[in-house]
Amino acid sequence: NAVYPFHGAHQAGITTPVQDRLHFASFDLADSLTRDDLVQLLKDWTAAAAKMTAGQPVGETGAVDGPEVAPPEDTGEALDLPAAGLTITFGFGPTLFQTTDGRDRFGLASRRPAALAVLPRFSGDNLSPEISGGDIAIQACADDPQVAVHAIRNLSRIAFGRASIRWSQLGFGRTSSTSTSQLTARNLMGFKDGTANIKAEDPKVVDAQVWADGDPSWMAGGSYLVTRKIRMIIETWDRAQLQEQERVIGRNKGAGAPLSGGAEFTAPDFSATGATGKPLIDKAAHVRLAHPDQNKGTQLLRRGYNYVDGNDQLGRLDAGLFFISYQRDPQQFIDIQRSLATDALKEYIRHVGSAVFAVPPGAKAGGFIGQQLF
Ligand code: HEM
Repeated sequence: NAVYPFHGAHQAGITTPVQDRLHFASFDLADSLTRDDLVQLLKDWTAAAAKMTAGQPVGETGAVDGPEVAPPEDTGEALDLPAAGLTITFGFGPTLFQTTDGRDRFGLASRRPAALAVLPRFSGDNLSPEISGGDIAIQACADDPQVAVHAIRNLSRIAFGRASIRWSQLGFGRTSSTSTSQLTARNLMGFKDGTANIKAEDPKVVDAQVWADGDPSWMAGGSYLVTRKIRMIIETWDRAQLQEQERVIGRNKGAGAPLSGGAEFTAPDFSATGATGKPLIDKAAHVRLAHPDQNKGTQLLRRGYNYVDGNDQLGRLDAGLFFISYQRDPQQFIDIQRSLATDALKEYIRHVGSAVFAVPPGAKAGGFIGQQLF
């Protein structure tokens, strides 16, 4: 039963060892909201988030100790449950700074980081606007799904009349590891996911690749969050031969070792060739194209989750990867996603949702999330 401190130089939920469950919500702010209202909302959210991550109910009186004649301050479903490693991470979307029709609702347009812009269109994108974008994102991760859902539910309830959920996503079975203390979990394609991820135990890489610099100064110690809802064409994948599946990824399915040989954590050798002279790791293999060698040394901290949203009308699972990455600049994601234009995996996946957020640094005790922005 882990408890992660809410306050600190960086927000929790980025380099924190990835928890098992996700509830992610993207909010749109009410048109009537003023700048002061926005600040108050962030203060209210900060107070509630600090309580919940400590394993406590929100408000002064929680779920059952308030007046009989008022709705309880906390919804109650996490009573008796531990903190379960809950982290709550907030991010600001481009539309917080300026609406798509150019309005500067909160006097923040000049404070928008140049790096924070709607992602460009990528080849093969099939995005639905109703599951993309949003003014403010909240990522709740926990080892108990009820704890993660309780967090988003109560934050949404607190925001009533001020912000409403535009889209949200439940996720399970972390498809990544952000600490060397964690075993690598598997995605719904059955492959180990997160082997070559950035790990918290490598602070040099984290500093160079994950934490934003001081331009603009309010983002110092923050990061940029990219989310991509990636549906898997699972039925097609499940009919592909094992050797085809392994060619597509560039690693073997059992141990997760690169096809150039060795064990899970052996570095891939992209120049190794087999008896026929063909590269052991295919030219179009996902790990070749995503590797730093192909991307001028660029890396991402991946923190995604599996999802299954029931099924479609043809009886196919509506399932895939809710991809989450943190980077010091969204350009890192853009560059790697562009280099994945010829990825063999593309035949088996479709990007259906997309969002980008500026994640401010952590709040100090007594302060609130995003305080440096105002
Ligand atoms: C590596 C799966 C989408 C970036 C991997 C690995 C797997 C995998 C199995 C190898 C194990 C590992 O190192 O984690 C998938 C699946 C995807 C997907 C199933 C979609 C459904 C993406 C996207 C990006 C990305 C959209 C970024 C634009 C990476 C990176 C690596 C990686 C940077 C590490 C490469 C290396 O350094 O060796 N992915 N991935 N992946 N993937 Fe993905």
